[in-house]
Amino acid sequence: MDAASARGAPVFFEPCVDSTNLFLRRMADSAADGTAVVAAVQTAGRGRLGRSFLSQEGGLYLSVLLRPEAAPERLPTLTPVAAVAVCRAVETVCGVRGGIKWPNDVLLEGKKICGILVESVLGGERPCVIVGIGVNANTPSFPEELRPIAGSIAAVTGQRVDLRALAAELLREFDALYAAWLPDGGRSVLAEYRRLCLNVGREALVGARRGLCLGVGDDYALIVRWEDGAEEALRFGEVSVRGLY
Ligand code: BTN
Repeated sequence: MDAASARGAPVFFEPCVDSTNLFLRRMADSAADGTAVVAAVQTAGRGRLGRSFLSQEGGLYLSVLLRPEAAPERLPTLTPVAAVAVCRAVETVCGVRGGIKWPNDVLLEGKKICGILVESVLGGERPCVIVGIGVNANTPSFPEELRPIAGSIAAVTGQRVDLRALAAELLREFDALYAAWLPDGGRSVLAEYRRLCLNVGREALVGARRGLCLGVGDDYALIVRWEDGAEEALRFGEVSVRGLY
């Protein structure tokens, strides 16, 4: 099935862009709610916390522009919901079940196979949110410094991923979960997220602080008990997890 045929909003298929998030950002004033772009290569893929995202041929780089009428404080829950959409699509198309490193990295057998970057576009004529998803589907290799943590689906399964099928399924799952998120803020997918979350029961490291991940709260915060016994709900930031990669 063509990804575009199942949706009301357009899907652009591009051989190469700087970044699919930037591609949509440039259309922020005019694009319809739900407009998506799928690219084969990105020359300036963007990651979380100002990092870059390696975006060679073989990966799947996809972004969706959204215009939710939701309070800004609800937006962070879109990211874990997108991670669930990735897990579902990867399981359907590739036959393997991933897990989620809070809040939104998807891992397969201890290797990161997907990163998600949600950006709010404010200040223009029409504010919007862009959800960007990068999947290391058939990515042939990684630079040495990424090899301990990054991997591709194809390397794990030994099978080439059908990128068109994965794009179509990912859009289908994301569209469905987003439609549910609009009224419920992600409540209906919380139990699934908790099952997929790899942090729970493992040691958490934030800077020099150490603790135990107890679970995921109703607002998708990661609940950590620190060594001094204090409990905290983490809502953003980088949490290292011992023994995950
Ligand atoms: C991360 O792991 O730090 C997040 C990476 C997000 C990468 C995706 S690829 C599609 C979209 N376009 C970008 O420039 N970034 C996101």
